[in-house]
Amino acid sequence: MKAGQTQTLLKVEVQGPQEALEEGLPLLVESWGGAWILTEDPLEAVFFLKDPEEVARFGEEASRLGFSLRRVDQCQVEDWSQKFRESFRPLRVGRSLWIVPPWARGKTGPGEIEIVIDPGQAFGTGQHPSTALILEALEEHFQEGLWPTVLDVGTGSGILALAAAKLGARRVVGLDVDPVAVEEARRNAALNGLELTFSTEPLKKHLGKYHLVLANISAWDLKILAQELAEHLLPGGRLLLSGFLAQEIPEMLETYLPLRFKLLKVREREEWGFLALIWGKG
Ligand SMILES: C[S@@+](CC[C@H](N)C(=O)[O-])C[C@H]1O[C@@H](n2cnc3c(N)ncnc32)[C@H](O)[C@@H]1O
Repeated sequence: MKAGQTQTLLKVEVQGPQEALEEGLPLLVESWGGAWILTEDPLEAVFFLKDPEEVARFGEEASRLGFSLRRVDQCQVEDWSQKFRESFRPLRVGRSLWIVPPWARGKTGPGEIEIVIDPGQAFGTGQHPSTALILEALEEHFQEGLWPTVLDVGTGSGILALAAAKLGARRVVGLDVDPVAVEEARRNAALNGLELTFSTEPLKKHLGKYHLVLANISAWDLKILAQELAEHLLPGGRLLLSGFLAQEIPEMLETYLPLRFKLLKVREREEWGFLALIWGKG
């Protein structure tokens, strides 16, 4: 797709039973990328697919999981990534982190950390408050001590994983359900001269426990993944969460505090929420 052009996608609306919210829908999202939930009962959701062949394969999997296809419409999606590239300027986050595009690299001063991100289709350029909230908390954590191992769930462009590695983590792993994001995260790691592990492996299949786990994903995903996120932390490890709305903070606390987490920090920026939690105390 060239600059300024639009892309045609197929917008597929599905309906299923309310129980599918926690069972079938996560499986569909895992195979076909993010969904917009229109209503929860009955469950109605929208997926965006490339072509009729994908819609046919999607339809088979969806019907096995109890969904029916309600309608398929063509829609035009703007090539926002090109527009975004043009507007991407170096951005300082926290005290020392600079998020810079490849064409503006090499200008940071002493004590500053440069994270090179080539803006593409994956989410994560530091401009979104949810990303900035986790980046700032990461920086604070590394100012206080060393966090040798870090897991970034929903890595997108890899921005949080790259920041963790540059701040001093020795082993960093980034997971994302979206293969395009994983590809971009690997490319961004190479641009930063870092070799990190990025994978589409689902969290529940990923083995390993970490000192720090980061997740900037929706409230809906964070509720479903709560137990699995806890299982990937070492005792005393920290979980840094964002991607939910500030008004959803009470819901997040109701989900996480009964799982042996202790609350460390709550923050809000614009309409977005952030939580830092300690695992294994409570
Ligand atoms: C809001 S973006 C965050 C990107 C980046 N970590 C940041 O902070 O800017 C969320 C990312 O999570 C991915 N994602 C959503 N649900 C997921 C899940 N259950 N497991 C892994 N990745 C997921 C999406 O594909 C998307 O790339």
